[in-house]
Amino acid sequence: MPDYMETPRWRDMHVHVREGDAVYTLGAVSAAYCSDILVMPNPFPPHGIDTMERLEAYRKECRAACGPNCTPHMTMKLTPNTTPDLVRAAARAGVTGFKLYPDGATTNSHGGIPQEWLLNRPSIFNETLHAMQEEDLVLPLHGEMPKSFVWDREKHFVEVFWNLAWDFRKLRIVVEHITTAEAVDKVQHLATAGFAIRATITMHHLWMENGASDWHGDGLYPDRYCKPEAKRPEDWQALIRAVKNDAFFLGSDSAPHVPGTKYCYKGCAGCWTACTPGMLVTTFEKHGLLDHLVEFTSRRAGRFYRLDDRPGVVKFRKESWQVPKEIAGYTPFLAGETLPWRMVP
Ligand code: DOR
Ligand code: ZN
Repeated sequence: MPDYMETPRWRDMHVHVREGDAVYTLGAVSAAYCSDILVMPNPFPPHGIDTMERLEAYRKECRAACGPNCTPHMTMKLTPNTTPDLVRAAARAGVTGFKLYPDGATTNSHGGIPQEWLLNRPSIFNETLHAMQEEDLVLPLHGEMPKSFVWDREKHFVEVFWNLAWDFRKLRIVVEHITTAEAVDKVQHLATAGFAIRATITMHHLWMENGASDWHGDGLYPDRYCKPEAKRPEDWQALIRAVKNDAFFLGSDSAPHVPGTKYCYKGCAGCWTACTPGMLVTTFEKHGLLDHLVEFTSRRAGRFYRLDDRPGVVKFRKESWQVPKEIAGYTPFLAGETLPWRMVP
């Protein structure tokens, strides 16, 4: 077994860097080892990044935070008011995509697309999606139906992404942070058939091999609570198998919250994993997947998002370390636990 390894810089195609001063802290955390990050548009609740003015201001901050070695690729929030004109303006400004949050599905998703629109798309919504397809923008999806029973939310969304893939054959679609065997199966089926659809998988869902038992089996671990929730061990097994397949790549959904909103009544969903990339190396080593690490963390996203490769490596050493209870004021995933691999300068 190796005790040191290097990889090309990673691409994390789903990151929350929040707003205000946090952008600088959180952007720098990812920029330490990523050449590219896809920035989610849900800061500044309730509206999020939904106008060109907000986009430009936020992009400026994200660029400053990430520095010269990491590109923050920007997304905007798809809302019932997103027009084809806004889509075209965003494309001209170099925006990567519009993120679809079903209204109420997760943290700061309010004002997203109503669940009813997903099942029966009104023509104004179709026109916006057509404009995205014409402009070659990406559609990242939060794949949960907010009004369903919590563990059926992803299941009930399968029909939505399946229909989108068929109706918009050229639109690049990413089903974000999938957690179920069924989603793995359906995305793989469509991607193999040549549809422009992929899915991201998070580090924390790959970690929780006992599914829900790992976050509330013997007591509640707020740092491991996220949306979509980790579910059954069979789902975890499907995610682990998916890592070998070209249709799946890293999107950490790294979503920091401060202890006050994590350890409280009605704590926020979100696992902050960007600060501990060594946990993914740990998972990949444990399950015999190290040969697939670079494809998963860097190459596949590069091909799908058409990104230029950059020089530089990330270094990891097998050196036991305890994840602090708090980093830069936020609660990390696995707070207080010991990891065998850590990133080193
Ligand atoms: O657990 C989550 N937290 N899932 C999401 O989709 C959003 C995120 C957040 O912004 O905190
Ligand atoms: Zn997210």
